[in-house]
Amino acid sequence: MLNFLKNIFKQKPKEELLLGDLCSFCESPLPVESKFNIFKCKSCNTLNFKEFNIGEIRLEEFISYGGSGAVFRSGDKAIKLVDKRNAVALAELENEYQVFVALKEVSDHLLTLEAFFENDEYAGLVTPYEEGGDLADFIESNGVMDFRKGLELILQVTDAVQCLYKNGFLYPDIKPQNILISKEGRIRVCDYGHVSSLSEVKGIEEDVSGTAGFISPERLTGEKEDCRSSMYSIGLLIHYIFTGRKLYSGEDGQETAEKHVNNNAASLMNSELKHLPRNFVKLVERLTNKNRDLRLSSFPEFKGMIRKQLTSIPG
Ligand SMILES: Nc1ncnc2c1ncn2[C@@H]1O[C@H](COP(=O)(O)OP(=O)(O)OP(=O)(O)O)[C@@H](O)[C@H]1O
Ligand SMILES: [Mg+2]
Repeated sequence: MLNFLKNIFKQKPKEELLLGDLCSFCESPLPVESKFNIFKCKSCNTLNFKEFNIGEIRLEEFISYGGSGAVFRSGDKAIKLVDKRNAVALAELENEYQVFVALKEVSDHLLTLEAFFENDEYAGLVTPYEEGGDLADFIESNGVMDFRKGLELILQVTDAVQCLYKNGFLYPDIKPQNILISKEGRIRVCDYGHVSSLSEVKGIEEDVSGTAGFISPERLTGEKEDCRSSMYSIGLLIHYIFTGRKLYSGEDGQETAEKHVNNNAASLMNSELKHLPRNFVKLVERLTNKNRDLRLSSFPEFKGMIRKQLTSIPG
């Protein structure tokens, strides 16, 4: 049951680091100023976190610290927190909240919202903490995925994206950092800050840096994305989990993103994925064609094809 925790928190003052506190890594003195009680060491850039409370919520560990907000662990919950003075971050968090509450159909592979809260300074979302971390960390620690496990992951990611689609939303942020893994290995897609309703999908986003590795060519050329754009990103995600690296990289997000428009990802799959079954590579080519008219356009059909692949794995 979703709790509405609007304005019920009384803000306690943050515990200030005492002057003279040292960086946990290089032992240089830390700056006094912080964001979300995260103190960035000026010598080695290590982020030093000091636990603090927002009302009764104890933020015990920081998980992720982005430009717009931060995610913390509090017991078995994850808290996504934004500073309300950051209007863009607040709008994204509110959008995410609206998507959560609008969902009529649910999937086991979507994150669930447990509460939304705000006080004068912060707004936050409370979700179950997924102990396995995200897919980017998983691949970094474990290397490429086994074929069967990878196909099972792709089925679950597709299920989540399809479920949002059935609810009338386009999920534009398919990337390893937005794919969480539970303790039992179940996949949950998170981060609905940029999700938009299918009728309001925007043609282009100004800042593509976060998604540059997995973004569809049509988003970059200003066309409206649709389910075929999700297929493209899923295709690049498949490439990532079976090679351990992104298909395209560049000096910056923009340069990486432009490669989706200037190249045809499908034509690279044969050499990139030559260690995988030939008919599977053909399927990935059908997901990643630069021309979306040549891509698969049905989530159920795609899932059926992945299930067929799964049944053909020996043993
Ligand atoms: N419920 C959760 N359990 C465990 N980790 C989580 C959870 N929610 C988010 N995270 C971690 O925090 C990171 C950032 O979360 P999320 O993507 O929702 O926030 P964001 O501010 O939109 O980040 P970004 O702008 O970097 O995409 C995720 O990549 C993941 O590593
Ligand atoms: Mg994210």
